[in-house]
Amino acid sequence: MYSLRNSLNNFTRARLTSKVLATPSKSCRFQRVPGSYSFCTKRENLRASSKERQFTRQKRIFFRSFSLLRPNHLLQKSTIPKQFISQNETAISSSITYTKPVVGYWLLGTAALVFGIVILGGLTRLTESGLSIVEWKPITGVLLPITEQQWKEEFKKYKQFPEYKKLDTEMSLYDFKFIYLMEWAHRMWGRAIGLSFILPAVYFGARGYMTRSTSYKIIGLAGLLGFQGFLGWYMVKSGLSEELMNDPGAVPRVSHYRLAAHLGSAFLLYIGMLLTGLQILRDAKIARGTFPASISKALLNPAIAMFRRSAIGIAALVFLTSLSGALVAGLDAGLIYNEFPYMGKNIMPPQNELFSKNYTRPGDAFAWRNFFDNPTTVQFDHRIMATTTLGAIIALWVYSRRVPITVNARRASNILLGVAGMQVTLGISTLIYMVPIPLASAHQAGSLTLLTSALWLVHVMRRVPPLIAKSNGLKKL
Ligand code: HEM
Repeated sequence: MYSLRNSLNNFTRARLTSKVLATPSKSCRFQRVPGSYSFCTKRENLRASSKERQFTRQKRIFFRSFSLLRPNHLLQKSTIPKQFISQNETAISSSITYTKPVVGYWLLGTAALVFGIVILGGLTRLTESGLSIVEWKPITGVLLPITEQQWKEEFKKYKQFPEYKKLDTEMSLYDFKFIYLMEWAHRMWGRAIGLSFILPAVYFGARGYMTRSTSYKIIGLAGLLGFQGFLGWYMVKSGLSEELMNDPGAVPRVSHYRLAAHLGSAFLLYIGMLLTGLQILRDAKIARGTFPASISKALLNPAIAMFRRSAIGIAALVFLTSLSGALVAGLDAGLIYNEFPYMGKNIMPPQNELFSKNYTRPGDAFAWRNFFDNPTTVQFDHRIMATTTLGAIIALWVYSRRVPITVNARRASNILLGVAGMQVTLGISTLIYMVPIPLASAHQAGSLTLLTSALWLVHVMRRVPPLIAKSNGLKKL
């Protein structure tokens, strides 16, 4: 869509600087001049004969787009004239196209599936089930052990790895079945997302339902989905490493870096699917001319540009706070300093604890590793980031009362404020009650809900390119 916008802006510029506009024709019959258009002034319009007047600009647009229709055409056609759409946006050359809304709904559905797997992944971690399946078999791994003998074999494999050796010496086969099923369900959900993404993507691509730029985005998302699967196994491998046995102080759990990377890439996938889906649905409305003119007009107001940028900043801040939360979860840093706002006697823990030498390595100029490896510092960072995010959201909400944003944007910023309050309350409760599974899981779901609210605000603040708005019957913009 960016190329579409750029081409529209270029077109606007070209049109305004056109010498044709400077020297209007005598008859003003809307003739086309290569590379530009001539437009009539109001007075010229009045002077034009009644026959000429009925060919108003809107009708010309309609007839021009209509003439481009082809009977065997599978793509949606918009009422936007071809000249307003860049080469990249046309899936079949010389056709005016936009992605079919069904593709947008499908992407929103897959985003919901990603939301679900993030929650299930969190539960898998919280129930310490993630290391129960010690192999990665993409095809045959679909099958669950059936007989008691098969279960015993799986349990035997699990017993060879550090988690069982170091922690779970009393685990029964019954308990093992529970953690195995949790991890199996997580992996199955991942496979289901893969299939429900790839198969419809191939179908929509083959049927020509998508513009070229949408197809590129879908290919990018498919790549990210594959990478996410790889990261999942890469993370699990870190928890199965024999090195954990050699270090007496090591806790048998996955690397917190890999956990944060796995969560971060799931969030990126979710962001990509959600924003692309919403954009496709909106573009279809614009192209069909059903997008409200008043909203297009309000979104073009330069007075809200700063608010728009701030909304993007808030979404980025929520994302970063979530990544810092993943480090807290990965290091079990929620099991210390279970009070708020204090950490011990003060709001800030002692400096020698925050920048402990235990987390530095020879040659380190500065104790920076504490920010990533020291549970105290990591928890402190998460508190700082969370309160900063809450403060920024409150400030944005106050700002939203002072700028002429749309009703939808106002609603989105109200929701964002409410969800942020809820998320911080959940975070504090999770900490105070020492990470009980229901609260920790709700806190994780809250982070994605908060991100969704921020992205919704970003989406409803997106500008409608001026010429698209005009070409869809929106006058006086
Ligand atoms: C903007 C607000 C916040 C966001 C977006 C956020 C996000 C997150 C995320 C994504 C996680 C990782 C969950 C997981 O992987 O299971 C997390 C964990 C955690 N957060 Fe927050 N958080 C916020 C506020 C807070 C606050 C205010 C506190 C308390 C001071 C807090 C305490 C915790 C704790 C203790 C964990 C670890 C839970 C566990 O081990 O499962 N969070 N947070």
